[in-house]
This record gives sequence, structure tokens and C-alpha cells, in this order.
Amino acid sequence: TRRITVRDLTLAKERGEKWPMLTAYDAMTASVFDEAGIPVILVGDSMGNCHLGYENTVPVTMDEMTLLSAAVVRGTSRALVVGDLPFGSYQEGAVQALRSATRLVKEAGVGAVKLEGGERSLHQTELIVQSGIPVMSHLGLTPQSVNAMGYRVQGRGDEAAHQLLRDAKAAQDAGAFAVVLELVPAELAAEVTRSLQIPTVGIGAGADCDAQVLVWTDMMGLTGGKMPKFVKQYADLRATMTGAAKAFAEDVVGGAFPQEQHSFH
Ligand code: KIV
Ligand code: NA
Repeated sequence: TRRITVRDLTLAKERGEKWPMLTAYDAMTASVFDEAGIPVILVGDSMGNCHLGYENTVPVTMDEMTLLSAAVVRGTSRALVVGDLPFGSYQEGAVQALRSATRLVKEAGVGAVKLEGGERSLHQTELIVQSGIPVMSHLGLTPQSVNAMGYRVQGRGDEAAHQLLRDAKAAQDAGAFAVVLELVPAELAAEVTRSLQIPTVGIGAGADCDAQVLVWTDMMGLTGGKMPKFVKQYADLRATMTGAAKAFAEDVVGGAFPQEQHSFH
């Protein structure tokens, strides 16, 4: 078996085939999704909140992204692994962006990188793509800008909608192979999807995107707390794991574990 390539995803759009993407931050979880047939795995900087205990994605470093991306690549054999460029690793300009993208490819082995911004990240996207590294763009709500924009639906109103369309076009023209649309009205996401040759990957962006992505700890109920409206619960891992941890604790305290079959003589 060979890995999925960005070309496979372009062809899927031409055929009208939708595809799923999930995040992963470690080899074990990634291997589960790879075996389940998830074609694209994103090592999101959502690892900041989900995996590293930060308040948001802003503090995530290139060292952290590289370490966890390498683990995800090692845990997979079929999926295309996309690594996020973290905040501060590409904003200074195209050369810095290329250096960061190159590190993720060489040291972690990712097949593509993702960065936030359309027009504002045009030069970065162009240089990375020209250097032979596929780029996924991320528009709408861009969590690395949380301190400036907060967490709310983007692209509402004519001006914001036109800007999103311009950003999507800029990303495509710069050579991006796909565009994530986060927290965008469904009608606008549908319009962006129709107007682009490259696939759109929705998260809180309605049913008409070419692909859908969710943060794995959210959709499997591990994160805890109130989930945003766009997250569908496919499992309740937090309850399952809490139950297992409590049962183990009870068994140890009460002397019910280990038993004869768990022992050596
Ligand atoms: O970091 C992440 O998980 C993401 C997805 C939400 C698209 O960027
Ligand atoms: Na991200």
C-alpha cells in the first residue's frame, strides 16, 4: 500500500467524492485512524489544548509540532499526514515559513503542511509550494489569531464574505492543495467550494464542503466540557476511561486485582 497523495484528493473532488480528516497527536491513536481508513490525518496545533494542556494553540512550538508529527507519521502507513505550522513559525515571511515547513518534512516526515491565512499568507504559501511541499490553507476562524478575533462564526456580512472568497482564491492561486474552512456559514462555505478547483475541508462550515475534519478528542468525547455545536459525538471515551480507572482503583484497594491468572510462579 502506498500513501494517499494530494493528487488523490484533487481527483476525489473531480469525481465528487467526499473524504474525512481527523486530527491525531500520537502514534497509537494515528495507527487506529489509519487502520480505520481515514485518508488524511492532521497533526493540528490543537495539540496545544488537546494534548499539552495549554489554554489555546498560540504557545505551541516547532519542537512540539516536530516531535508529535514524527510520532503520527511512524504510526501510519497509508494516510497523508499534514502538520500544522504553529504560531510564530511562518508569520515573519516566506523564508521563515519555508524553513519551518522544511523542518516538519525532513525531521517528522509529514507529507504536507497547513498554515492559517489566505491573502496574508500568500508569499509563504507560494514559496513553500514552489519548493515542493504541499500546503493546506486554513481560513474562516483561525485559532492562532484568537487574541484578535475570539472564537465566533466568521464571514458574516457582505464584506467579510467577499474577503473569505478572496482569501480562498489567493490560497488556490498560490498553489494550496486544499482549504480548511472553520466556523463559516454553510451558504458561504458552499459558495467557496463551488468557486474553487481544490477541495474545501469544513469544520463548522456546513454539509457542502468537499471534506470534513473534526478534532479527534472532541468527536470521541474525551475532551470534556461543553462542545461547540458543530461537533458530533461518536463515542464517550471520557466516561469509558473514567469508569475503567475507577474500577481498577476499586479492585486494587479491595484486593480483587490481581488474581491467579495475572500472576507468575
Ligand atoms: O489544529 C487543528 O486541529 C485544526 C483543525 C481544527 C482544522 O487546525
Ligand atoms: Na490548527
